[in-house]
Amino acid sequence: MSAAAQAGHRAHWSSRWAFVLATAGSAIGLGNIWKFPYMAGENGGGAFVLIYFVCIVLIGLPVMMTEIMLGRRAQRNPVAAMERLAREAAAPRAWKLVGVLGVFTGAVILSFYSVVAGWMLDYLMRAGAGRFHGMGPQEAKAAFGDLLANPYELALWHTVFMFLTMGVVAYGVTRGLERATKIMMPALAAILLVLVGYGLARGDMAGAAAFLFHPDFSRLSPQGVLAAMGQAFFSLSLGMGAVMVYGSYLQRHISIARVSVYVAAADTAFALLAGLAVFSIVFAHGMGPAAGPGLVMQTLPIAFGAMPGGTALGALFFLLVVFAAWTSAISIAEPGIAWMVENLRLKRGRACAAFGVVVWLVGVAALLSFNVWEGFRIFGRSVFDALDYLASNILLPLGGLAIVIFGAWVMRQTHAREELDLDEGWFKAWRLAARYLAPVAIALVFLNLIGLLPGA
Ligand code: PFF
Repeated sequence: MSAAAQAGHRAHWSSRWAFVLATAGSAIGLGNIWKFPYMAGENGGGAFVLIYFVCIVLIGLPVMMTEIMLGRRAQRNPVAAMERLAREAAAPRAWKLVGVLGVFTGAVILSFYSVVAGWMLDYLMRAGAGRFHGMGPQEAKAAFGDLLANPYELALWHTVFMFLTMGVVAYGVTRGLERATKIMMPALAAILLVLVGYGLARGDMAGAAAFLFHPDFSRLSPQGVLAAMGQAFFSLSLGMGAVMVYGSYLQRHISIARVSVYVAAADTAFALLAGLAVFSIVFAHGMGPAAGPGLVMQTLPIAFGAMPGGTALGALFFLLVVFAAWTSAISIAEPGIAWMVENLRLKRGRACAAFGVVVWLVGVAALLSFNVWEGFRIFGRSVFDALDYLASNILLPLGGLAIVIFGAWVMRQTHAREELDLDEGWFKAWRLAARYLAPVAIALVFLNLIGLLPGA
């Protein structure tokens, strides 16, 4: 797509599979490998996972279909798309603020996302140097602590990752990425399966499965429910226009519903595999599931350090995770860049430099919050946590809410029908979910949290 996009006119994905791959590439990333396991661990396991599934199906799928539909109908970046669709529906132009919010959200997410991707780059080097060999839980924990305590090392890898990301967005080598995604994603799934196999042989897989699949609702708080919903948005890349901008490069005849189901299913499978692999190690070594953002970094090296061929496999794993993070990061930046190029008439390279520098600076603040600025708190959270919380639990669900409301209430339903091109029964199901289920569920989770519901 991007060669033509750079030239100022819009091209399209070469096939349905190209779009599925790019969208799956956006969805599958650190959210699945890094975030899902530790969120499940922090929020008590099974009940969180169950609510997460419910959110994927009842909220995630309808929002994803709606977001792709809006992008494809408008054939514009999210800001211009919302403006154009609002005009078509004779609705207030202020709807374009949904797109502006998305660009802002993208900048917030990319700042801390790049820091975490940096951890993966660092671990890629460590794995390759054989440093996981014979590692126990104590050493794994200490090694990660050392990384967090070192702002220079964190900044180095954060910078490398920002260059990788903005480089691709600027030069648009997306075709090569498309092809690479086709190989890298299955490879990542294969190594996750090896890790699950290791968990079966040497870890506590029964404990992991019980933790992840036996819901104990007494361990889930209203905060946990919000976190599950936020995680569904984050993991599926919804609520900020990333999927909308990819949808805007989608040809007319492709079934939006089918593509959405494929992506959501693949995304969920990756999260579950990562969860099983991580928790089988956690319970086998008597570690706590609630270790927070460092959970994956403190567990998987133990498995790689103990298995035959673990040095090579560990290095390959972290390489693939970096790749998965990269394909996601590109989609996080794309709404903002497409907007700057198409609306502000900036050259693509300049837009990338400007966006990249701002995001990089915020990322530096995030990484300093693990060491020199450790004591600094925003509403009781470190800068890193505050950015993640703001994006995942507030901005993405709000964006998603606005998107379904627009698609199901504001846009003319003949247009929605045309775009989605579903059998009458499925169209009604989408409409029910997008009009009522999803918005009401999102609103309830928010209200529950602010304590406006009786019994909350
Ligand atoms: N879905 C990505 C992940 O799970 O890592 C993160 C992400 C990408 C969030 C794109 C939001 C987004 F728009």
